[in-house]
Amino acid sequence: MAISEDLRFLEREALEAVLAADSLDSLDAVRVAYLGKKGSLTAVLRGLASLPPEVRPEAGRVSNEVRVRIETSLEQRRRALASVEHETRIAAEAVDVTLPGRARPIGRQHVLHQIVEEITGIFLGLGYRVADGPEVELDYYNFTALNHPPDHPARALQDTFYVRDLSGDEAEVEGESDVLLRTHTSPGQVHVMETQKPPIYVIVPGKVYRRDIADPSHLPQFTQVEGLVVDEGITFGDLKGTLEHFVRGMFGPDRRVRLRPHFFPFTEPSAEVDISCGICGGTGCRSCGGEGWLEILGCGMVDPNVFGHVGIDPERYSGFAFGMGAERIAALKYGVPDLRLFVEGDTRFLHQF
Ligand code: DAH
Repeated sequence: MAISEDLRFLEREALEAVLAADSLDSLDAVRVAYLGKKGSLTAVLRGLASLPPEVRPEAGRVSNEVRVRIETSLEQRRRALASVEHETRIAAEAVDVTLPGRARPIGRQHVLHQIVEEITGIFLGLGYRVADGPEVELDYYNFTALNHPPDHPARALQDTFYVRDLSGDEAEVEGESDVLLRTHTSPGQVHVMETQKPPIYVIVPGKVYRRDIADPSHLPQFTQVEGLVVDEGITFGDLKGTLEHFVRGMFGPDRRVRLRPHFFPFTEPSAEVDISCGICGGTGCRSCGGEGWLEILGCGMVDPNVFGHVGIDPERYSGFAFGMGAERIAALKYGVPDLRLFVEGDTRFLHQF
């Protein structure tokens, strides 16, 4: 019964190899080595056919038993290894549900954007509409139509960014105008009056540019909000009442408003507007330079010369205009000592608003 002994030996060897396998891969290698096409047991089974007929049944029975036992043991071991591997993977991939979640930072509106919306919102509540104008502007709209004489100092190269400067002979070419970055939002008034008939109630927010070096109170690019009203019977009293309404909406009901005579080429009379200092309430402190008042905007009654440029009859209509810097309004509202903070993009600063 040499064949049976060979088979028993093969079985012992196979079962040992099964137990020694420490991973599903090495277990599969064992299966192939014994039961695969070229496996040891497969070779024995093939050899059965050439055995003498009298030993064949017994050899066949034994080899079948051996095959079944190897298969059974392979299957047991496979289950054991699979569950170990499963446990290991679960442990490795485990999620600690007690860990804090990953923060997903969300953006927010820039404080200047918020301020412009707040200013605009107050005037929308009074029935104004929002208009806009180009940042790259013609000298005509930025200066000439706003009643600046040809030699006005604001036109000087050191104050204005020129895109195309038609100085000297070229300036003689009729109908030509210098191209520049608007130095204020007031040219928006001219665009509105060229395209709309009174009654006009508009607010024009936007960026403006000046050849200034950035310092705590200057920026070469900043934001203005312009206002313009043209209607029948508009008086300086309407202007003052409107600005008082604006100041209370923006800074709170306790603020007082003061108008000081001033000069602007495009308004007559003109005024600068101060609000009572929010820190000392008007008695004078360091933050208002001992004055008790802080300047917030320029305003006045639209000069008849401006109406002349846009074909509005100054006998029938009158109007007022005002312009303010959004950075300055924001600085006063939140007590920010340096305008550069608004444009440096430091999120530690910006996230406060
Ligand atoms: N444009 C002026 C400036 O930038 C501000 C201003 C003053 C606007 C008086 C006005 C106004 O509309 O009436 O300094």
